[in-house]
Amino acid sequence: MRASYLQFSPSYLEPDRNRARVAEMIQGVETDLLVLPELFTSGYFFQSQDDLAEVAEPVPEGPTTDALRHWADDLNATVVAGLPEQEADLVYNSAAVASPAGEVAVYRKVHLFYQENDLFATGDLGFPVLEVEADGTSYRLGVMVCFDWYFPEAARTLAVKGADVIAHPSNLVLPHCPDSMPVRARENHVFTITANRTGREQREDEILQFIGQSEICDPDGNILQRAGAEDKGVGTVEVDPAEARDRHINQYNDVLADRRPDMYTLA
Ligand code: ACM
Repeated sequence: MRASYLQFSPSYLEPDRNRARVAEMIQGVETDLLVLPELFTSGYFFQSQDDLAEVAEPVPEGPTTDALRHWADDLNATVVAGLPEQEADLVYNSAAVASPAGEVAVYRKVHLFYQENDLFATGDLGFPVLEVEADGTSYRLGVMVCFDWYFPEAARTLAVKGADVIAHPSNLVLPHCPDSMPVRARENHVFTITANRTGREQREDEILQFIGQSEICDPDGNILQRAGAEDKGVGTVEVDPAEARDRHINQYNDVLADRRPDMYTLA
């Protein structure tokens, strides 16, 4: 199957414009799984709760889920994308997953980064692993968002739940993630697709520079493709999710089966 990230620089508080730009960028793309950045509709560095409220929307009833369903149908691909999700009076930093069959799932970011803690509610749905069809075969897709990478438990939970591929919408600002995701991929023997953004946003006198470098890693921790820091576009790689199924690294060691949870107690 073909797996892709889309890297671009979303415009702050301009969801119509951002959806239109993605629609243009995916014209003619051939893929089975497309991952877009975190908060791709809205931008990231919110000036206020009011700004966030202006662009938050319900899932699956909102306009972005409509667009994702439409793109999934058009591309015949599963599409994973980050957006601010309104539910009752709470806003979550979420990722929605739309399948070509019209199904929609949602993940709410568990580990909030920096000032996200003042704006968003923490995720309350756990880490999802979805059964997905591609090329007539099925594979298991896990989802986490950006700063979740800093917590090995996130990718490990997805792998133990059976994920073959982890979709990772991101708005990375710290420099370490592109060199850490190959480790997350290797230690869990999964494929990872990190879709990051580029550009910069300012709040008062503080500037956040987003680092690009979206990347796709294989279960051995090889970087199959990495975008540049400023590139805009779609990167696609052929991957075989079945390679992630056998978690042996030699005839003795299986990286998940060899775990010793009985030894990981704090007592
Ligand atoms: C991040 O979690 N957006 C750094």
